[in-house]
Amino acid sequence: MTSREIRQKFLKFFEKRGHKIVSSSSLVPKDDPSVLLTTAGMQQFKPYYMGNKDPIKDFGTKRTTSIQKSFRTPDIDEVGDESHLTFFEMLGNFSFGDYFKEDAIKWGWEFITEELKISPERCHVSVFAGDPSTSSGQAVPEDKESKKIWKSLGLADDKIKKAGRKDNFWGPTGSEGPCGPTSEIYVDGLEIWNLVFNEYYCHADKTLEPLKQNGIDTGMGFERLAMVSQSAPTVFETDLFLPLVQIIPHKEILNETKAVRIIADHIRGATFLIADGVLPSNVERGYILRRILRRAIRYGKVLKLDKNFLIPLSQKVIEMYKEFYPELSVKREDILTVIEKEEEKFSKTLENGLKELGKILVAKADKIISGKEAFYLYESYGFPMELTREIATEKRFAIDETGWEIAFKEHQEISRAGAEKKFGGHGIAEITNHKSQITNSDAGKITRLHTATHLLHQALHDILGQEAEVRQMGSDINAERTRFDFTFPRKLFSEEINKIEEVVNKKIKLDLPVFNKKMNKEDAIRLGARAFFKEKYPDEVNVYSIGDPDPSKAYSKELCGGPHVDSTGEIGYFKIIKEESSSAGVRRIRAIIE
Ligand code: SER
Repeated sequence: MTSREIRQKFLKFFEKRGHKIVSSSSLVPKDDPSVLLTTAGMQQFKPYYMGNKDPIKDFGTKRTTSIQKSFRTPDIDEVGDESHLTFFEMLGNFSFGDYFKEDAIKWGWEFITEELKISPERCHVSVFAGDPSTSSGQAVPEDKESKKIWKSLGLADDKIKKAGRKDNFWGPTGSEGPCGPTSEIYVDGLEIWNLVFNEYYCHADKTLEPLKQNGIDTGMGFERLAMVSQSAPTVFETDLFLPLVQIIPHKEILNETKAVRIIADHIRGATFLIADGVLPSNVERGYILRRILRRAIRYGKVLKLDKNFLIPLSQKVIEMYKEFYPELSVKREDILTVIEKEEEKFSKTLENGLKELGKILVAKADKIISGKEAFYLYESYGFPMELTREIATEKRFAIDETGWEIAFKEHQEISRAGAEKKFGGHGIAEITNHKSQITNSDAGKITRLHTATHLLHQALHDILGQEAEVRQMGSDINAERTRFDFTFPRKLFSEEINKIEEVVNKKIKLDLPVFNKKMNKEDAIRLGARAFFKEKYPDEVNVYSIGDPDPSKAYSKELCGGPHVDSTGEIGYFKIIKEESSSAGVRRIRAIIE
């Protein structure tokens, strides 16, 4: 079934069931400072869930349906695999104090199995298992009703999986808003549709208050749906991408296929962002746009594409999507001009920087790029540090992150003497990339995530250390999440993940003080401070100890440049959102704080 048919079928299906078809809202959220970009279909409907606006007045009904432009950055590093994207479309149906679980589930199942004729054999579903201890201490009960509804539709027990708060509780977007337990539909093991039963309002302090009226918010990833319905092996082989992918010259080999997927995802996202008024800059949304454009340009180099190769690709995106998103035609000239300018600006930087980096790499027998060298590229060629990191990883080089930080700090001190806030910290990619432009709120979040990462590191040792060596292999923090790579030979059990979260949250609750002390490197190691083997440390090091000024008595101690919070209570609620393989024998955890 073509994606055009799916679009029509979906909207018609819900229109027939009393829903008003509502256009996608902009990628730049209106009146919602809590989020940078629109990440879900429900965002434009937040006031209706809360009873602050009357849906009857605005839509003539309490039911709406939409196909929403959405953009999510946390998975940006995953783009290149079968199904991850930054920009995507989300099909949704919504109820504000009208129908609830029964109809939402029944219709979801009917749409998948009868309208799209996807065999029930290929499907399974999940329901909320309940959570006795939420961040606020409030328990949320198991969703027995949904299980009963699924059973009444003929699903066998083994097709109805239970999962906890991480997987089957959604929201809020931003710092507060409607949220609730979910039930998800999977096809061929891939999560397709998230049915959210909005029952609570989550306040900024994380307390949950029952909403005055129950709500339904469903979201189905359009590209994934097209993938399973068109039996395509990846989203890039559905008709939502294929015409674009086909005009990018490449060979069917691993690194070229990956480059093509990244370019296709990023140019599509950039085209839509610019159409909604985002311009490249060094802050917030503008930085996201700049980052995806620059990454696309860099992967264009991998494929040896001509200068200005992004223009015909963006034209293709406009051609493919203008029928559904007229703003693409209206803004066509703007879109192409912005891309052309950014491409021109960055190509030169990239070319020169790559040449220099090439020279550095050739000269290095130890396979370590020094902090000075990385800084030289950044300072003299404007070469983004994240690119140096990306290329270093590809070529199996390490970077002396502490050295980079020192070089950066020295430079900052000279050029921005008296600047109000200074940040640094090993492994804090985002903060060191565009330190001077980062917002205070992002910097605060990164700092909290950084301390949380130290607690996580120790908790991993506590829970897993008996079985095998846990050694840090990398870490990366941005304002949305922390990512931590470590050696461990197998996938973690969900009980282990829960336990790790529990330990970290316990240490947060205890509000342990964080101490920072300069020490001789050997002494620090002798007292048990953890070091990251890929880094070269100077003789005098900085040690961060959590819980006690004496590293040997502290809960966590690490050689680290900071910054950190003063005490762990500042961190907030810690949540692991993903555990996966990073490479052979190395696991990767992504976690957020709320
Ligand atoms: N808000 C939920 C999601 O984004 C369902 O639409 O997954």
